[in-house]
Amino acid sequence: MAWRIRSARPDLKLILHAVDISRQAVEFAERGVYSVDSSQLAPTRVLEHMTTAEIDELFDRNGDVVSVKSWLREGINWRIGDVGAPQVLEPLGLQDIVVANNFLCHMDASDADSCLRNIARLVRPQGYLFVSGIDLDVRTQVACDLGWQPVEELIEEIHEADAGMRNDWPFHYGGLEPLNKIRRDWRVRYASAFELGSSSIPSSDGAVQDETFQRLTQQT
Ligand SMILES: C[S@@+](CC[C@H](N)C(=O)[O-])C[C@H]1O[C@@H](n2cnc3c(N)ncnc32)[C@H](O)[C@@H]1O
Repeated sequence: MAWRIRSARPDLKLILHAVDISRQAVEFAERGVYSVDSSQLAPTRVLEHMTTAEIDELFDRNGDVVSVKSWLREGINWRIGDVGAPQVLEPLGLQDIVVANNFLCHMDASDADSCLRNIARLVRPQGYLFVSGIDLDVRTQVACDLGWQPVEELIEEIHEADAGMRNDWPFHYGGLEPLNKIRRDWRVRYASAFELGSSSIPSSDGAVQDETFQRLTQQT
């Protein structure tokens, strides 16, 4: 993400907060050193979807070992934390963009639902939330409840981007349902990016939910 954003917008000052509940995962990611030799313990899956040109842009190479370039490592705050916990907000504060990919699918629907609502509290008004690798019923429900606007740009390309996830459907819990435009709610169901409104906290009378849900499901 740092590479994409810094390459496209070198004028921006980019500060990232990277959070994982596992100390091991945080330390491994912060080290940013990977083996390109598949017989080594350090997993090469990090690199498996990257072209040689991309690897050269992101990493310094020393034999079979690659390390993330220093201009990409700077400005990243590494933290151990449970993003399902309400107190996660305090040290992080409101963010322009929040990315929550590929971990909510490991939770049951109720835990994923409450964790996603908690994460959404990190997004500043009119900021963006990217969330994939999650049960689509859970994501759709939360998006409609909280009045999130699906970002339609590249919606199909992003949904279809990971062939591995699609191939797992419907036999594996992490499998991704094919995009189906017959569904009236397809724009919200298959969006992975959302613009969040002035508040992700639903009104007590449910007005936000009703209005957004009707608009999204009436579009065909
Ligand atoms: C499959 S990895 C996904 C990593 C990365 N987001 C990606 O898309 O490649 C799932 C990670 O989520 C972390 N995780 C699971 N539950 C979490 C929670 N409640 N708070 C923070 N991290 C969590 C796990 O420790 C693990 O490192």
